[in-house]
Amino acid sequence: MIYSLAHSLTLTVAFLVPAISAHIAFWHPSMWGFNVTQQTFPYDNRPVAPLAGLTFDQWWFHGHLDYPPHPHDVFELPAGQPVIAELGCNKGATTWYNSSEGGDVRQGDWPCPKSPSSQFHTTGINDVKGCALAIVQQSDVSQINPEDFVVFSVNQTCVWHRFTTFDVPVNMPSCPDGMCTCAWFWIHSPDSGSEQMYMNSFQCNVVGAKPDAPALAKPQVARRCGADPAHGVNEATPGNCTSGAKQPLYWFQQERNNMFEGTYAPPFYNDLYDFKNGAQNDIFVQPA
Ligand SMILES: *[C@@H]1O[C@H](CO)[C@@H](O)[C@H](O)[C@H]1NC(C)=O
Ligand SMILES: *[C@@H]1O[C@H](CO)[C@@H](O)[C@H](O)[C@H]1NC(C)=O
Ligand SMILES: *[C@@H]1O[C@H](CO)[C@@H](O)[C@H](O)[C@H]1NC(C)=O
Ligand SMILES: *[C@@H]1O[C@H](CO)[C@@H](O)[C@H](O)[C@H]1NC(C)=O
Repeated sequence: MIYSLAHSLTLTVAFLVPAISAHIAFWHPSMWGFNVTQQTFPYDNRPVAPLAGLTFDQWWFHGHLDYPPHPHDVFELPAGQPVIAELGCNKGATTWYNSSEGGDVRQGDWPCPKSPSSQFHTTGINDVKGCALAIVQQSDVSQINPEDFVVFSVNQTCVWHRFTTFDVPVNMPSCPDGMCTCAWFWIHSPDSGSEQMYMNSFQCNVVGAKPDAPALAKPQVARRCGADPAHGVNEATPGNCTSGAKQPLYWFQQERNNMFEGTYAPPFYNDLYDFKNGAQNDIFVQPA
């Protein structure tokens, strides 16, 4: 009797905990995979599931290309203005809790209700490593390659807030036919374990672009060039930085990586790879 009660409690807890406290995703109805649940795929491919050791089809767009957003759900990016992205360990922790499996579990600005920050691989606010938004001027996802995404905004205090602010560069050009494709990317500190990356993609559109806005430059692979005292590098090496438009950091997958750093030295969206905090204002083709 006592045993079976304890046993069923254990089962209940084991069943509930992964749904509440897991990893992190960008949440918005404009995203691919908005309604993907733990049951949709043969494995847990919810938007919050981390990406590690996967084939290209599994990690690209989080394997969610068959789960597109409604055409009218588009995330607007006003040129020269801040936008707020919602990051959460569970859809129920966000504004869109009403279509989540577990209902409303929001906890203010905290991304992971009832969980310590180790749930998002961070020992404290001084251990955040930054996350990024990237864009491609193409709405036909079958035409997009990893080499096409340009990182246009970084928040180095990510992930710490559910409501994370990203500054959109003032020079962002408008999107062809009013639609671009964007994605949120994150790689966390190695302090709480697990080598993995995060990618959630969404439909986006730049609004309020200047009529004479410059084009986006072709993005290059980022290089390690910041100070890194944890690995004995006390001085930055600015000459090693990739200047200008940079691709996202594709790391620790089976295929199509552009980063080859080891387990304990992940690449980050911060000064280590010359991703400045805020709008990336150097990503445009220089006017002739
Ligand atoms: C997601 O689920 C909600 C609630 O069932 C529904 O209203 C919405 O249309 C769905 N969105 C997509 C993209 O399937
Ligand atoms: C769920 O909440 C969102 C955000 O407030 C709202 O836009 C949407 O209409 C709601 N959906 C339902 C089915 O109530
Ligand atoms: C990062 O997001 C936080 C929370 O919204 C905000 O306070 C901070 O100003 C943002 N940083 C940048 C560079 O936008
Ligand atoms: C320069 O960047 C490359 C590629 O990220 C890296 O392997 C190398 O260690 C960096 N060199 C210095 C001196 O930081």
